[in-house]
Amino acid sequence: MENVYSDLAFSALAARAAAYSPYSGVTVGAALLCESGKVYLGANIENASYSLTTCAERVAIFKAVSEGERKFAAIAIAGGKVGCEVSSEFPPCGACRQVLREFCSPDFKVIIVGADGYTVHTLGELLPYSFTESYL
Ligand code: THU
Repeated sequence: MENVYSDLAFSALAARAAAYSPYSGVTVGAALLCESGKVYLGANIENASYSLTTCAERVAIFKAVSEGERKFAAIAIAGGKVGCEVSSEFPPCGACRQVLREFCSPDFKVIIVGADGYTVHTLGELLPYSFTESYL
């Protein structure tokens, strides 16, 4: 698994290059691994109407879902200020955690890329006691 995670971490780092973030100056890249083996990339896309910004993770998952993917194994996330190779660590925001939870089980892996490598977490650790369709 280590090779898979480090490849995904490198893909997330590379995905940062496509970020559109003139307002915050923060670029974020995400690489989402599907159970099919395919990887979808995402980068944050900001807007002059700030609240319309979309995070890198949601770009990646919406790209994948809109291409028919429904089963996911892991996501890697890398972010930091423009010009910074990578920030110390860039954990996913709460909204992205909830969107991931719609499609991913608590054992889905979240790889957070930092300056000295990456750490592996589960979605269940990052979003305990989560709201799902089972409550509807
Ligand atoms: N951002 C992400 O892309 N993912 C996150 O999980 C947190 C925040 C982006 C949104 C915005 O463009 C910039 O980081 C600063 O908040």
